[in-house]
Parts: sequence; structure tokens; C-alpha cells
Amino acid sequence: MAYKIAIIVGSLRKGSINRKVARSICGLRADNLDCSMIEIGDLPLYNQDLDATPPAQWQHFREQVGAADGVLFVSPEYNRSIPGVLKNAIDVGSRPYGQSVFDKKPAAIVTASPGSIGGFGANHQIRQACVFLNMPVMQQPEAYLGHVSDDSFDESGCLKEGPLKELVTTLAHAFHDWVEMIHRSRQLLAEDSAHVAQQKQREQAHA
Ligand SMILES: Cc1cc2nc3c(=O)[nH]c(=O)nc-3n(C[C@H](O)[C@H](O)[C@H](O)COP(=O)(O)O)c2cc1C
Repeated sequence: MAYKIAIIVGSLRKGSINRKVARSICGLRADNLDCSMIEIGDLPLYNQDLDATPPAQWQHFREQVGAADGVLFVSPEYNRSIPGVLKNAIDVGSRPYGQSVFDKKPAAIVTASPGSIGGFGANHQIRQACVFLNMPVMQQPEAYLGHVSDDSFDESGCLKEGPLKELVTTLAHAFHDWVEMIHRSRQLLAEDSAHVAQQKQREQAHA
């Protein structure tokens, strides 16, 4: 089954290596992951005063993420932290209070950088936000992609053959399995609860 995946890229740069990594992930599992890139560059800065009359861009973003079965964050690290544009998108999607579009959605986090640490700091700060947002985040494989440059991609923008592509391929497969596991377990639990409720009703009817 193909799951709808909302991909949120934390870079607005045209030649973004993170966007290319995101595109490569989509291409690697096109059979099972129905990916959409959700644009975040036009989102007005989050302001709680606007919760009652939200800008159209906020609503569009919330609808797009809300319709997804899972969320994939692919982001650079800025100053060892989350790029502001991505943090703004996370804040926009998380509100109004009690109506977060991220709630319960399975997620994975990928950070890519030309540096050797691979965006470790940003990766874990995104993870920290996901914990509060009640998103089950895939644990492994961790994806701190270091030493990524334009040279890591071919002319069509896809990852060249090599260890980086192998890791990203493993991650794409693992993410599909993660999304499937979360959705299937919820379905089984719901069926089980319905079954228990029916059983109770039958017992009460016979009592
Ligand atoms: C404001 C700013 C802060 C940055 N801080 C970091 C950093 O903390 N760690 C890091 O590995 N790279 C850092 N970089 C370099 C980015 O990793 C690099 O520019 C990368 O290509 C950005 O990702 P993108 O190609 O997807 O836009 C920073 C770049 C900018 C513009």
C-alpha cells in the first residue's frame, strides 16, 4: 500500500542539497511512498493573535499535512539548530491548541550538511519538537548525512551510487515499514476495542 507522505524541507534555497535528498527518497520508494513536497516559504510568521482568522497559507499548509499518513522532515542545520523557516512551519501546524495537524502522525527526520556532523544538532531539536507534538518518530536508521555536496548528486539531482545512497535507500524502506506498522497497529487496536465492546453488549443482553 502506498502511504501519503508530506515532506517538509527546511531550506528555501533553489539548489538545496536537502531538497535533492528529499527528492531522491521519493524516487527510491515511489511504489510505496506517495510523496508531496509541502512548501513552507510563504507561511506568514506564526502569531497567536491570528488563530481566530488564520492566513490562507496557514490553512493550506495545515490541510496538506493533515491529509498525510506520515511526515518526513529533511533539513539543514543552521547554527547547530533548526532553520527558522522550518520551526515556523512546525509552530503553524501545531496550533490552534488541541488541533495540531501533526498529532499521532508517524515521522522520520533526515538532516544533510556539507559538514562532518551531518546536522546532528538540528536533527535532535526537530526530534524534540516531535516528541511534544505526539509524533511517533522512527528511531533507526538515524540520518545525519555528513559531507553532502552538489557532487553527491547526478545531473538529474538524484543521489549517485555509493554509501550515501545505500543509507538513504535503507532509510526510505525503513520509513515505509514504520508508517505501515503504526497505521496497522492502530487499526488492529481499534478492531480489537470494537470487538470487546460488541462482546460486552452481547453479555449484557443475555444477563
Ligand atoms: C545561517 C546558516 C547557518 C549554518 N549553520 C550550520 C551548522 O550549524 N551546521 C552545519 O553543518 N552547517 C551549517 N550551515 C551550512 C549548511 O549546512 C549548508 O549551507 C547547506 O548546504 C544548507 O543546506 P541546503 O543546501 O539544503 O540549503 C549553515 C548555513 C547557513 C546559511
